[in-house]
Amino acid sequence: MTIEIINHTDAQTRIENFSKSRYVDNTYMELEWQKVWKETWLLAGLESDVQQPGCFFVFDLGREQILLTRTNQNIIQGFYNVCQHRGNLLVTEEHGKASAFRCAYHAWTYDIDGELKIVPYEERFLNGVPCKDLSLRKVHTDTWNGFVFVNLAESPQPLLEFLGPLAEHLTPYSFHKMVLTEDQTVQLDCNWKAVVDNFSELYHVDFLHPQHKRMVDCCNDTVHLFPNGHTGLAVPGSTVSPRFPIPEMPTDIQTMQLRSLDLDPEDFQGRVVEVRRAIQLQKRAIGRSRGMDYSAFNDDQLSDVWQYNIFPNSILSFTPEHCWLLRPRPHPTDASKCLFDKISLEMYADPKLAESAEEIRGPGHRQTRKTSAYLPDDYQRPKRDIFHYDAVIKGEKTMTDTIDQDVELLSGVQRGMQSSGFNQVYLNEDEMRVQHFHNRMNELIN
Ligand code: FES
Ligand SMILES: [Fe+2]
Repeated sequence: MTIEIINHTDAQTRIENFSKSRYVDNTYMELEWQKVWKETWLLAGLESDVQQPGCFFVFDLGREQILLTRTNQNIIQGFYNVCQHRGNLLVTEEHGKASAFRCAYHAWTYDIDGELKIVPYEERFLNGVPCKDLSLRKVHTDTWNGFVFVNLAESPQPLLEFLGPLAEHLTPYSFHKMVLTEDQTVQLDCNWKAVVDNFSELYHVDFLHPQHKRMVDCCNDTVHLFPNGHTGLAVPGSTVSPRFPIPEMPTDIQTMQLRSLDLDPEDFQGRVVEVRRAIQLQKRAIGRSRGMDYSAFNDDQLSDVWQYNIFPNSILSFTPEHCWLLRPRPHPTDASKCLFDKISLEMYADPKLAESAEEIRGPGHRQTRKTSAYLPDDYQRPKRDIFHYDAVIKGEKTMTDTIDQDVELLSGVQRGMQSSGFNQVYLNEDEMRVQHFHNRMNELIN
């Protein structure tokens, strides 16, 4: 593992044990609400859900709900999702398109700019109805690379300043051009930070995800520690783990990757460690003809899996062709529960680049189709699928083998942390990103 510390301060690199209270204690949860959730930029959702005026989605976070809409001025604006009459939650759908927002209780109606427009029996309000003062309450809203962010603070720092060098690192990745293909939320019996921790270290991979040895090299990873608690990780992909015997023939994953690029796996007999380089070169050679623009990427980025955590709770795991947004959200009242979103985005072929259009036409799952495919004509935004982790354990739902393994384990972590037999977390160097995240939590909370 290589660690790169970017604009570091001592506080960001300090190694220290920390008490379990932050995972199990509702007093800590309240501090977290005041000092973290109400003070930090938060990734609320996708710009693609608010493409036209009137399009909206609701971001549900702990005790708050934020309504995001595209206004008549064609900007994305967040509002507290609360009617200003007697405080009913205003919008109950997760996303959609509206010409106005009408409260179900007494029909107060707001336009898509959040202004109060209709109050039934207005003359009965003896003090009048000052519509301007009774408009929906705004929250700071901004966008970056296809993602919509909100900040509940009065006067937050600019979003780009908050993201800092992380945003520059991710420049070649065009998340804003990717298309939502799956939208899942699982209810977990663990604190939201146990999920962040889980996606901040590779120490557990050999043991919990033994199948990874046939697709990534977790020994030669690069870790980045950024200001403001963000972290990054680059893992060599299209290869095998050097901790295990190197197979004679490409693994099943490598075989699929080679075939998808018109390379013959047989040619790599006894040369399995050369597959990664071959994939880089082939993407460079034929990417354009497949409608994929790799010009901004370096060679490593063409084969490797990156995973960048945007403080506090958004985890992006991605290649040039796909991205998972993994996002644990806190429970409103219970420190030992959270909601965990997995939002899958895929890059589809750009018909302007592709030369051999017929060859790649048609939809298909990313892992079985050619390097790229066109967005199907009948594409529809998938509905959010919400389920309890029991459904994953029973095999009724899956979030991919790897995430299923994590999800099945995490309630055991929470149960263990609540035990009198456990007091504090004790980390190693492979868990540097976990440490960095908690050091930032400490800075904000203490
Ligand atoms: S609470 Fe919304 S109209 Fe009364
Ligand atoms: Fe894992």
